[in-house]
Amino acid sequence: MTLPPFAELQDRVAIVTGAAQGIGRNTAVTLARHGMPVVLADLNDDRGSRVEAEIQEAGGRAAYVHADVGTMAGCELMVQTALDRFGGVYALVNNARWHPRDKLVDVTEADWDRSQDVLIKSHFMACKLAIPHMIAGGGGSIVGISSAHAIQANAIEGPYEAAKAAINALMRNVAVAYGEHNIRANSILPGGIMTDVKYEAAALAPTPELDARQALQNPICRRGDAQDIANAVLFLVSDLASFVTGESLVVDGGLSIELPGSATTRMTGLEV
Ligand SMILES: NC(=O)c1ccc[n+]([C@@H]2O[C@H](COP(=O)([O-])OP(=O)(O)OC[C@H]3O[C@@H](n4cnc5c(N)ncnc54)[C@H](O)[C@@H]3O)[C@@H](O)[C@H]2O)c1
Repeated sequence: MTLPPFAELQDRVAIVTGAAQGIGRNTAVTLARHGMPVVLADLNDDRGSRVEAEIQEAGGRAAYVHADVGTMAGCELMVQTALDRFGGVYALVNNARWHPRDKLVDVTEADWDRSQDVLIKSHFMACKLAIPHMIAGGGGSIVGISSAHAIQANAIEGPYEAAKAAINALMRNVAVAYGEHNIRANSILPGGIMTDVKYEAAALAPTPELDARQALQNPICRRGDAQDIANAVLFLVSDLASFVTGESLVVDGGLSIELPGSATTRMTGLEV
């Protein structure tokens, strides 16, 4: 008699950073749906508490904590909450982000430093604090949310792109250094993902017309949703991925593997 997929996740404790909205929210709700108690770390108390209530109302276990993951104190509070409320840490999903959007010459030193604290130093600090508890518990799974920007560039996201590439390297390091303790570490590189918040910010509703426009850029011919990334996290956290470690998993509907000419032909109908 075999257990259904993901049954092993029941009672394994997860931490998700940046869990108040977007990809972090979907990830937290998805892990909780599979029986994981989830610590939700964020700075947005209003949205974070709403996600906590949403999970609890659905019968799951969640604890929202106001924790600035760009600081050691915030990371300590987050890990301590997992220990105090749920008794351990099995999964760590580093997902929070803050970064300036400017060409490099116009980025201030303060914004560079803060963005690196939130985007990459947070991964170091959370790993440093959580890994000893994973070892004590017999293992764990760490997922760093990177980005297609780790391997492709635009003109205005230098700090973001540098940090996202570093996440992939750091996860490989953790995979090698802690594999002997049954700890796996992987990163996910999402492509363009339309989240609830992006729609709100643009005062847009997910209409069929907007869906069609979003879909066009991806060879898979549909837009990417936060749930697509949450599903990839679920896989990496689960025992289905027990031999997957140090991997950088691109989840982008084929966006990054298409030749520019092919994309132009698909979008315009013109042979180039
Ligand atoms: N949405 C996309 O298209 C996309 C594409 C590629 C990669 N990603 C990555 O996926 C992750 C989630 O993306 P999203 O679009 O859902 O993000 P988002 O900007 O909607 O949400 C980020 C969350 O992080 C929180 N946060 C910011 N600074 C924090 C701090 N110091 N401490 C704790 N929480 C903090 C915010 O309050 C927010 O809830 C990010 O790492 C992002 O880089 C997103």
